[in-house]
Amino acid sequence: MNQKALERQKEIYLNGFAGKIPVIPFTSYGLEEAAKGVLSKKAFAYIAGGAGEEKTVKQNRTAFDKWQIVPQMLKNVSERDSSIILLNKKLPSPFLLAPVGVLSLAHRDADLAVAKAAASENIPYIFSNQASVPMEVCAQAMNNQTKWFQLYWSKSRDLVISFLQRAEKCGCEALVVTLDTTMLGWRPRDLQLAYLPFLEGKGIAQYTSDPVFTDMLKTYQSQQAKRTINIQTLHGLISMVNHYPGNGFFKKLKSGLPIKAVQLFTEMYTNPYTTWDDLQFLREHTSLPIFLKGILHAQDAQRALDYGVDGIIVSNHGGRQVDGAIATLDALPQISKVVNKQIPILLDSGVRSGADVFKAIALGADAVCFGRPYVYALAILGENGVKQWIKNIKAEFELTMALSGYSQPSEINIDCLQTVVTQ
Ligand code: FNR
Repeated sequence: MNQKALERQKEIYLNGFAGKIPVIPFTSYGLEEAAKGVLSKKAFAYIAGGAGEEKTVKQNRTAFDKWQIVPQMLKNVSERDSSIILLNKKLPSPFLLAPVGVLSLAHRDADLAVAKAAASENIPYIFSNQASVPMEVCAQAMNNQTKWFQLYWSKSRDLVISFLQRAEKCGCEALVVTLDTTMLGWRPRDLQLAYLPFLEGKGIAQYTSDPVFTDMLKTYQSQQAKRTINIQTLHGLISMVNHYPGNGFFKKLKSGLPIKAVQLFTEMYTNPYTTWDDLQFLREHTSLPIFLKGILHAQDAQRALDYGVDGIIVSNHGGRQVDGAIATLDALPQISKVVNKQIPILLDSGVRSGADVFKAIALGADAVCFGRPYVYALAILGENGVKQWIKNIKAEFELTMALSGYSQPSEINIDCLQTVVTQ
């Protein structure tokens, strides 16, 4: 049995009795507000922002409000187990941590702090292609706890192969291919501040630690754009050099590699040419199960089945790519119908609470991924913040499930919900 919710509640209240008040807020709104208070303006804009008018960001949330849980009573929920089986592995709760890039914006320990927190709570962590810490470093900190790798399909096939090989070697158990970012979405908050963290050398650690990428750098002829030197460009340059691996600031600066790395990265990190047939290339170069992230259309879910992938993630990238795109929870029922339990379905974008996890499962998801909430917890209190947040969300889900009359996620289905009746 995997029932921890009451222990967590007790721990919090007993701590309070001894005068210790929790630092990590319990609501998504509180988390965002607290994180806003500690993050720089640019960092907060990058993390919280979405595409366009941020209508999809909002609808990702309101989609959950269209459904109500209808609890049932007297069902003996004394024995509870929130665990699920995903890819033949038992997970303590039906959720994972989504891949989020440039975590050094949130906290100096970045991905490593998240990796340690996830491992200590036995929650799978999907390493981002745009991580601030190389996958090998995070993987080592996680020992044999579940880790996956998320790939952005680069223009260089050699680099893709290298990423796949590294992911396998460091013990990742699945490959997540993000399909919705063949180019960067139109994000007004970042545009208004004219800020893109990658240009400061942030979030490119998977590249600068890669043998294929560093080989390419040796022969890369950069386009030296003439730039005005001012405090701002100097700040960017210092950041680029500091984020480049190795010691000796001036040695790195003189080598020119930090600047070239940023330029080469921006030229090759996305690939708008990819089509469904290219999946064959990935299949040929990895034996890992492949999950497609960014599926929103039922026809794409059918294609995913036809192309023999191992799972899908219903995602709109937290509303960061196409403003006006369908909310993921709204897309889920049709996709679930098409998939018909043939492969696992994960869902992310707007998932904020135990009730949200419950609703997503009821509508056909096997598990969900969280994005921004754990990033806010990281910003507020580093590794410990993420750990506290995971403990809270685990407990909240278990209590929601039990108080609704269910002892395990497999009992949750569409009959547990009704749509909101408008008078
Ligand atoms: C992301 N996301 C993302 N996805 C991905 O596949 N690779 C990545 O590197 C990133 N980077 C990233 C950075 C930031 C700051 C955010 C907020 C999101 C998308 C992420 O995996 C996930 O789909 C969303 O975050 C889910 O939505 P919520 O939970 O943030 O609403």
